[in-house]
Amino acid sequence: MERIVVHPSGPLEGRIRLSGAKNSVLKLMAATVLAEGTFVLRNVPHIVDVDCMADLLRSMGLGVDHCDNVLTVVRPADINPEAPYELVERMRASIVVLGPLLARVGRARVALPGGDDFGPRPIDMHLQSLERLGAVFSTAHGYIEGHADRLVGARIFLEFPSVGATENAVMAAVLAKGETVIENAAREPEIADLAGFLNRMGARVLGAGSPTITIVGVEELFAVEHEVIPDRIEAATFLAALGACGGELVLEAARPDHMDMLMQKLGEMGMRISTHPDGVWAMVGERLRSADVSTLPYPGIATDYKPFLVSILAVAEGVAIVAENLFSGRFRYIDELVRMGADIRIEEHFAVVRGVRRLSGAPVRAHDIRAGAALVVAGLAADGDTVVSDAHHIARGYERFAEKLRAVGADIETS
Ligand code: EPU
Repeated sequence: MERIVVHPSGPLEGRIRLSGAKNSVLKLMAATVLAEGTFVLRNVPHIVDVDCMADLLRSMGLGVDHCDNVLTVVRPADINPEAPYELVERMRASIVVLGPLLARVGRARVALPGGDDFGPRPIDMHLQSLERLGAVFSTAHGYIEGHADRLVGARIFLEFPSVGATENAVMAAVLAKGETVIENAAREPEIADLAGFLNRMGARVLGAGSPTITIVGVEELFAVEHEVIPDRIEAATFLAALGACGGELVLEAARPDHMDMLMQKLGEMGMRISTHPDGVWAMVGERLRSADVSTLPYPGIATDYKPFLVSILAVAEGVAIVAENLFSGRFRYIDELVRMGADIRIEEHFAVVRGVRRLSGAPVRAHDIRAGAALVVAGLAADGDTVVSDAHHIARGYERFAEKLRAVGADIETS
């Protein structure tokens, strides 16, 4: 999928079934390194990032098969504990194999991930937490090499509740000797999903979803089956599409308890939104109103929601201030929105968004997964056609994106 052509659309009507959460399944796949045997993961989306993680596991010697939405991973007794540059470069989330490899194999060689389109992405907190558990690192030729005879439980205080650093530390601590306590841990639902998976494998992880996670190390873990939680970021994308087009949607399988703050914000903007026996119901009958947005770690408004929210604020009534507190460079797609007639000014990590009645379709470029999806949302609320190029970014994180939107009435084509 290289291009998405978006025609003015609306209203949207119907039901969309959410896929499994990208940011959960990638970590669950990394966790299969921790135990020998055959794992079965259900509700696994067919997205490019899952293919990348599957390639990484295969390159380490694991067997991976992805059929329908079931992913089977066969973890043999011996694996090659290396994540090569070609794969880490394709997907920086590959760094989450570091903790499991050190815990189970005692050594790891992982290419250093670079920055990306929304700024530098350091991994200092990942390394510091693993060092607290006894891992020793050196870096040479663009690779981090780590080893540890047996990790030992420790108290880890994260400077910032980093999702990836929390996940790496939890996955390392499950096989460490003794107790680990992670303070200021990230609280995202994907972390609770990972902890549930690890506990099913025989681990003892307590408090995931809260700022303090306690892990009591065990001697051995076992391969299990698990169903991945629904993707709350995909949900936010479709809710924004509804905000852009108007109409009424039911998001099947959506978990309102994972999206409290988002639902509150959309409600503030005039969307009628509530829980539904099948997930989440939402309706938009008139132009939305502006509301200020400030991104924060969970349970705050996720930085991943922001691009879609900016797309609908661009056509809402009034002025909004949007603050980005996680990723310094995550405003680049705004230049593309401005090319579509949006009235947005960026001041350091703030954007001032003055709503206009309609945007004007234009050729635009997707810089990353969420920015790409946000441009499609904006295109739905634009006069004329919007052509989103580099749409392959969207396929990294969305399963059947165009098809799902078309099914509820969006007029979009892919090529
Ligand atoms: N940070 C450091 N040092 C570290 C780790 C992080 O300074 O060692 C900083 C980052 O630079 C950033 C902040 O801490 O400013 C938060 O980063 P975090 O580690 O929480 O992010 P991540 O684990 O790399 C995951 C998601 C992102 C999502 C962020 C924030 C995955 C695969 N990725 O990234 O999702 O934006 O959490 O919620 O889970 C996406 O899905 O498109 C995506 C980018």
